[in-house]
Amino acid sequence: MELESYKKLFLGHLSEKIEVKQPVNLYEPIYYILNIGGKRLRPVMCLLSCDIFGGKVETALDAALAIEMFHNFSLIHDDIMDAAPLRRGNVTVHNKWNLNTGILSGDALLVWAQQLLESYEGKTYKALNTLFTKTALEVCEGQQYDFDFETTFNVDVNQYVAMITQKTAVLVAASLKFGAIIANASEEDAQNVYDYGLNLGIAFQLQDDYLDIYAEEDFGKQKAGDIIENKKTFLFLKALELANEEDREKLIQFYSSKEYSEGKIESVITLFDMYKIPLLIELEIQKYTAMAIQNIENLTVSQYKKSSLVSFANRLMERKI
Ligand code: IPE
Ligand code: IPE
Ligand code: MG
Ligand code: MG
Ligand code: MG
Repeated sequence: MELESYKKLFLGHLSEKIEVKQPVNLYEPIYYILNIGGKRLRPVMCLLSCDIFGGKVETALDAALAIEMFHNFSLIHDDIMDAAPLRRGNVTVHNKWNLNTGILSGDALLVWAQQLLESYEGKTYKALNTLFTKTALEVCEGQQYDFDFETTFNVDVNQYVAMITQKTAVLVAASLKFGAIIANASEEDAQNVYDYGLNLGIAFQLQDDYLDIYAEEDFGKQKAGDIIENKKTFLFLKALELANEEDREKLIQFYSSKEYSEGKIESVITLFDMYKIPLLIELEIQKYTAMAIQNIENLTVSQYKKSSLVSFANRLMERKI
């Protein structure tokens, strides 16, 4: 099946499952965030994985929706934490409504996501729910580190990779493993596809950090939001590592306060460019994508199916939004 067909199938399911409910003030922001677009990568991965392991794609639709709902819940709360004004080219939920709406609609979306898993039975339900709750906690842990790192310079690239593994990669990995569980794949296959997702997820977040600053097209988010928020991304940490004494001082100075400071964004980007950070992050993205592709080797599926996972990984690396 083509990737576009998975997405179409998913979008059909989404519109079927999203019915208008009361109280409107709780559900309207949920419909809003779910309907302003998004790449739908995680549900597509869930369906693709189910298909690859010989499952019936339709049986993975509720799990795919659970994943996308969880993802959107995490975005509503992430935008509050990151003080983000824009999401997918639209006003963020907490700015369009208010903070309390963002908190409560986010909470409801999280619970709704988990509730969708109840359409599965027995062993499948248990396995999906266990993976869901484990993943959700890890995402919270990753988000806490991301937030804690804003106010410290005592972070290295390894800690950064551990942080993005938790906040982003585990959900990508879980999306794929959901598909494997529903298709009744072997433990080994489920683990290998999970590891593929972990490496792909790390590459994905590295690229998100890159695009936050260097996106050529409209990325749908506030440009350089990570610089404004003093995020210790790979870009910043690498620059700090390579900078001479004087530039290091400048970087630390700029990242010591969130108060508006004239020329902060331009100056930081100039330093990133000077130390060739865009090139270094590109190499890092390639490294994790190559590792993901390695994880496909041991899957007990046909060469043809493996090649669809390889091309998925390569396509992801070329994304512009
Ligand atoms: C954004 O995820 C959050 C990150 C983990 C970087 P996506 O880039 O998948 O967002 P949408 O769903 O396509 O908008
Ligand atoms: C998002 O990381 C991770 C989660 C939502 C859990 P970012 O904060 O970098 O994501 P964007 O850039 O706002 O989409
Ligand atoms: Mg954010
Ligand atoms: Mg964030
Ligand atoms: Mg980002």
